[in-house]
Amino acid sequence: MITISHLSKIYRRGVKAIDDISLEIGTGMFGLVGPNGAGKTTFMRIIAGLLKPTTGEISVFGHNLRSYAGKQAAKAQLGYLPQDLGLYPNLNAYEFLDYMAILKGITGGADRRRQIDTLLEQVRLTDAAKRPLKTYSGGMKRRVGIAQALLGDPRLIIVDEPTAGLDPEERIRFRNLLADAAAGRTIILSTHIVEDISQSCSDLAAMRGGKVIYRGSPQDLIAQARGSAWTITTQGERPNGGLTIVSTLQLATGVQYRVLGSPDGNYDAAPVEPSLEDGYMWLMTQRETGVPA
Ligand SMILES: Nc1ncnc2c1ncn2[C@@H]1O[C@H](COP(=O)(O)OP(=O)(O)O)[C@@H](O)[C@H]1O
Ligand SMILES: [Mg+2]
Repeated sequence: MITISHLSKIYRRGVKAIDDISLEIGTGMFGLVGPNGAGKTTFMRIIAGLLKPTTGEISVFGHNLRSYAGKQAAKAQLGYLPQDLGLYPNLNAYEFLDYMAILKGITGGADRRRQIDTLLEQVRLTDAAKRPLKTYSGGMKRRVGIAQALLGDPRLIIVDEPTAGLDPEERIRFRNLLADAAAGRTIILSTHIVEDISQSCSDLAAMRGGKVIYRGSPQDLIAQARGSAWTITTQGERPNGGLTIVSTLQLATGVQYRVLGSPDGNYDAAPVEPSLEDGYMWLMTQRETGVPA
């Protein structure tokens, strides 16, 4: 269990990146969604013990991050894949993981080899393991990143926007990999792409402006948009009147808009079952206009 209470972070020059967050995170995959600038990276770096909060307390499996000993004990249980993991271009995957394992204190050579072989297998990079990392695709690099985070079998894994820049196929593959790794551990996964968490996370928080504005299941977030999701088909003109356009689809007969809100009688609107993305967009727009969600 990870317990966060009254956490705030004010950067120099007064940017309030985290604004009084209290949260408990249990076992399994936990999704952290929010637009760019919401504070996701700041929040994750604080939980990873890399950044000091301005105020608040964090306990990771009973270890309080305030004390040096607590931080060391928490870090021993942690795997972290930062948003911008630097890979050494001339090392191959095996050498890179070997180096990271040594940094993590996995000093027994045989144990290290066994772990690295298993992880390379798990992330499907065994065949490419002897190729320099500079020849890897974006998806392969991310998989090396997750292998690195899994070294030492940590109970907590933090992954920051791991699917950014991946093509759809790589994204699905990466998501499945994380879902497998979530068995028996806590994975905190941040993303600004809601689709990334729709299948895998049973618990999520949505952040905006340094605050948690939603905490709960994907189903309950979806339910918030029930009755507000519609499709409107026009000859191309965009629906207006306070509607939020979530997506568009070109049809032979016109353009189908998926919208959130209350369409007036000028539109031939058909109600649809909301998706997680609808729920998320609904939440964000409600907050924008100041209407309580
Ligand atoms: N080192 C820093 N110094 C000052 N402001 C920062 C720093 N890092 C991030 N910020 C600001 O804090 C806010 C949250 O940023 P961040 O945690 O990176 O959000 P996210 O990961 O959700 O995009 C943003 O307004 C960002 O500009
Ligand atoms: Mg970020």
